[in-house]
Amino acid sequence: MTQMSMTASNATGKGANDVVFAVLKKANDAIARYGKDKVVNGSIGAIFDDEGNFAAMPTVDEYYRNMPSAELMNYAPIAGLPEFLDAAIESAFEDQKPEKAYIKSIATPGGTGAVRHVFYNYVEPGEKALIPDWFWANYKTILAEHLRGHETYQMFDSEYKFTLASLKEKTEKMLKAQNSLVIVFNTPAHNPTGYSMSYEEWEEVVEFFKGCAQDKNKKIVLLVDMAYIDYAGEPAETRRFLKLFSDLPENILVTLAFSMSKSFLVYGMRSGALIGISSSQEIAEEFFRVNSFSNRGVWSNGTRGAQKLLADVMTNPDLKQKIDNERNAYTKLIKKRSDIFLQEAQEVGLQLLPFKAGFFITVPADDPKAVADKLGENNIFVVPLQKGLRFAMCSIPTHQIAGLATKTKEALK
Ligand SMILES: Cc1ncc(COP(=O)(O)O)c(C=O)c1O
Repeated sequence: MTQMSMTASNATGKGANDVVFAVLKKANDAIARYGKDKVVNGSIGAIFDDEGNFAAMPTVDEYYRNMPSAELMNYAPIAGLPEFLDAAIESAFEDQKPEKAYIKSIATPGGTGAVRHVFYNYVEPGEKALIPDWFWANYKTILAEHLRGHETYQMFDSEYKFTLASLKEKTEKMLKAQNSLVIVFNTPAHNPTGYSMSYEEWEEVVEFFKGCAQDKNKKIVLLVDMAYIDYAGEPAETRRFLKLFSDLPENILVTLAFSMSKSFLVYGMRSGALIGISSSQEIAEEFFRVNSFSNRGVWSNGTRGAQKLLADVMTNPDLKQKIDNERNAYTKLIKKRSDIFLQEAQEVGLQLLPFKAGFFITVPADDPKAVADKLGENNIFVVPLQKGLRFAMCSIPTHQIAGLATKTKEALK
């Protein structure tokens, strides 16, 4: 007998469990049974301090709590507070803006909202976006939710070195089947591997897409998910590649998914922006128009308090400096944890994917679920991906890191 369903046909069968939140639940159950000290919770992409407590930035916290209710709670304009739209651009580029480009932004509920708009407004219904093979699982969910598919490009070769070969091959193949293509990059400090593309790799990418764009019938949209950029190194260095998006052919649109979630540790405040970069004023204006319409049609306004916070931070150097200092302290903390893990992995010969910076380290595995289950028996909770295991350095207290690489190496046997 077929199972009864009340849904519209497009929604039938939807809703498998979110892997990250399923692991988080297991970790929380184990904490309730055995206590916090006995459980390693490496599942969630949020920063926890070395006492295992949720980490916030004191200056952000204080600023919020002192905000007048009209700024905190009133509606924001549909596209976002105008001063937020400028601030999001300033924060995303700092001093690395491309010279010959029109740049527009739209407020969205986090980077998720920005990704949603690109998938919905720039991938044809029923067609596919091209995403990396190591990816934030939500890309797939958002595409499926909007009746779009995906194809993956390989990020690393058989020796786990970053490669652009597969990206190029897949792009060329897909551009034969589709007239438009959205290609996703999650860099710097990629989730789940921590890889950051170099400036030279970006130069190669931009040259390649300029070549593809010679066929004026093709529309190419790059989506750069920069959720972790503020934990990836010096701002001028991590953003240098953005200058390459100057004077692009008209049929290349670059979009940035900008998120306040990690940069200000305000994940639940749901604030970010979609930023569009085009050499054509007309395309930039269209970008603003269609994505504002989508805001109205999907969630209406964004979160005013978070928008006001960013606007104030970007126009108040002292406030910005204080927050930058607090963020840098967390960056150092996560780096300390990662260094311990990396060092031990090297000592015990545990293969990792190339890590440069950020919240996560990934161990490749043939049967990730089995390895995650084995680690779970030792009260170590990490996320099994399709081809590996994701360890959240952001959430594991430093004193719990030593021994993890060794236990993982054993569990892999
Ligand atoms: C790769 C990546 N992109 C985007 C996001 C978006 O997060 P948010 O919607 O909270 O800004 C996340 C959050 O986990 C992420 O890991």
